[in-house]
Amino acid sequence: MSEGNNLVGVDIGSSSIKVAELKEKRGGARSLQYFGFHPLPSETIVDGHIMNSGAIVEGLQKLFHKQKRRDVALRVSGHSVIIKKITMPQMTTAELEEQITWEAEQHIPFDLAEVEIDWNVLSQRADQGQMDVLLVAAKKEEINDLTQLAIEAKLKPRVVDLDAFTVQNAFEAGYGAPPPDQTIVLIHVGASLTTLNILAEGTTSFTRDIANGGNQITEEIQRALGISAEEAEAYKCGGDGRGLVPREVPEVISQVVDQLAGEIQRSLDFYLATSGGGDVSRVLVSGGTANIRALLDAIERRCRVPVEPLDPMRVAQPEGKRADLALLQARAAQATVAMGLALRKDREKRA
Ligand SMILES: Nc1ncnc2c1ncn2[C@@H]1O[C@H](COP(=O)(O)OP(=O)(O)OP(=O)(O)O)[C@@H](O)[C@H]1O
Ligand SMILES: [Mg+2]
Repeated sequence: MSEGNNLVGVDIGSSSIKVAELKEKRGGARSLQYFGFHPLPSETIVDGHIMNSGAIVEGLQKLFHKQKRRDVALRVSGHSVIIKKITMPQMTTAELEEQITWEAEQHIPFDLAEVEIDWNVLSQRADQGQMDVLLVAAKKEEINDLTQLAIEAKLKPRVVDLDAFTVQNAFEAGYGAPPPDQTIVLIHVGASLTTLNILAEGTTSFTRDIANGGNQITEEIQRALGISAEEAEAYKCGGDGRGLVPREVPEVISQVVDQLAGEIQRSLDFYLATSGGGDVSRVLVSGGTANIRALLDAIERRCRVPVEPLDPMRVAQPEGKRADLALLQARAAQATVAMGLALRKDREKRA
């Protein structure tokens, strides 16, 4: 998986674009060469659909203004993707290549002509003659729209990946391979979407998207106080710097994050009841909404497991002028997906 040069990671989220460029040195040490952040106007991307492509192209052009390297790894929104873990008889890679379309037909509720299929063997169970395969189907239209925008901004898209897997990549690069006897839960909470990825026996064992995130908190504050979205957003992020935050704000935040923590708890309970695996040993949270400590506390309270923020700076330390330290510190939680994408290479072999 480690052939070739690192691609530049480009995470086009519904609230902002994040860009990360890594450099790998001999011996495995990495440095972060560039981190860029560009906020997008609201309604740029709605439910995974690009509504304002001009804003995205403009943002990309700005972020890549002084960038030489333009081979990029893009993130596609979970709105248009289905991920399934399936069990198949043991077979060779060549046999699997032939079989996979037929398998996808059984498991994917989209028209196969409209989706891009990808797969990865998670584990071989030779004693049972079976293997677990992760099947991913993403709508071609959404991928095409996204890559077209990147091309319009003079970028060269090489790879498309998903939040769940890029966060996992960043986690493994920063914290080491997950111990096979541990169940680790990675939760990524952005503006519009929350993604859950449960790692067991060292690999993805369960993923789920929840259509809830930071936007919901902002909307509830806006409604409760009868204020604008901008004001609500400023209060949510700790006040507007001019005065105290009204006392309703922390109350609304705790109500909304508790709902989200409840959804997460239900997913974990379902997984634990059906997988037969061990208890969760660790939960790590990333994405902009991970800045809200009340969310981490609510997950900890409901799931009764230690919850910590995922620190993407463990992947690579900033080096040089283009890796703005103050920006990185302010936006660390939001940098995780871009960092995970920046770990991808231009020449990769299937594991
Ligand atoms: N300091 C902070 N406190 C509270 N919330 C924050 C803070 N910083 C960012 N956020 C919230 O995090 C969200 C943005 O996070 P992120 O950049 O991960 O989302 P995105 O990638 O744009 O969206 P998505 O992937 O869901 O489409 C917004 O809802 C924003 O209000
Ligand atoms: Mg995001």
